Amino acid sequence: MKQATALAHPNIALVKYWGKRDTALNLPAVGSISITLDTLHTKTKVRFDETLDSDVFLLDGASNAGETRRVVDCLSLLREIAGVQTHAEVRSENSFPTGSGLASSASGFAALVVAADAALDLGLDQSRLSELARRGSGSAARSVLGGFVELHHGEWEDGADCIATSLLDAAEWPLAVTVGVISRKAKKVGSTAGMELTRETSSYYSAWVDGAEADLLAARVAIVERDFQKLADVSELSCLKMHALAMSSQPGLMYWHGATVEGIHRIRQLRRGGHAVFFTIDAGPQLKVISTPEAVATVTDALSDISGVQDVLLTGLGEGARVVD
Ligand code: PMV
Repeated sequence: MKQATALAHPNIALVKYWGKRDTALNLPAVGSISITLDTLHTKTKVRFDETLDSDVFLLDGASNAGETRRVVDCLSLLREIAGVQTHAEVRSENSFPTGSGLASSASGFAALVVAADAALDLGLDQSRLSELARRGSGSAARSVLGGFVELHHGEWEDGADCIATSLLDAAEWPLAVTVGVISRKAKKVGSTAGMELTRETSSYYSAWVDGAEADLLAARVAIVERDFQKLADVSELSCLKMHALAMSSQPGLMYWHGATVEGIHRIRQLRRGGHAVFFTIDAGPQLKVISTPEAVATVTDALSDISGVQDVLLTGLGEGARVVD
């Protein structure tokens, strides 16, 4: 039986990507830098079965028509490399809410390619797995690796140099991440549609692309030097620029809720009070707070105190995607 199970964690971008240079190959217009989380995860079992007439995809036990196409397309890339046509059953489970800005597609596609690679006995290296995960979802390229990760936008037309590489292992700078869950509803405009709208309609788009290298450089230096303040400054800058860019689309994209804005003020207040904390927000309302482990209790209290924060999740930095069975 050709089957394997893999586990992958979501990641959170500190230097964001928004906009694609090639939609068919899913190539980002700018590089990005992220941290891979630990406690939250996607576990995916891929079982190739000669008796199946088509691929089957179950997410948290239910068939998921919306995502099946992308899963089948990604799986087919691995089938092509293996030279087989066998269909598969893919069973995926998330330990966190899907589609609400917690990057379930990142852990989802990272787990999918790592499980399919093992099930087909391909033995692909991390760069190749990262490239294949990127085809499913841009941010998934980063979840193949653990700790601090950079996804390079690459120059080549085929995207073979658009892969993630490691900047620092999780244990080398063990930061904490506290997520304030503000809504569990799936977002109205997904990241791919949002990025395309922005690229086509925002007059800020070229300024965003032009500014990316400077942010990436600042973040790389901050990470290598373990300079929290520097990382806080560039991460909040990149986050606010990404959202300002999204808001400048026509029609404007607004991912924040009132509680998100309230959270931004609270976190900045904590930093002014001497706590090592900063925020970031992806294509959804959730507030993600990066801090030193010592600041977690203070952050949890601050987030819990905001009306509109429904839940607080604690996580640290974790490892890359791996086979577990
Ligand atoms: O490639 P996607 O669809 O996972 O888009 C990711 C978009 C952001 O999370 C907002 C930014 C990022 O770099 O992760």
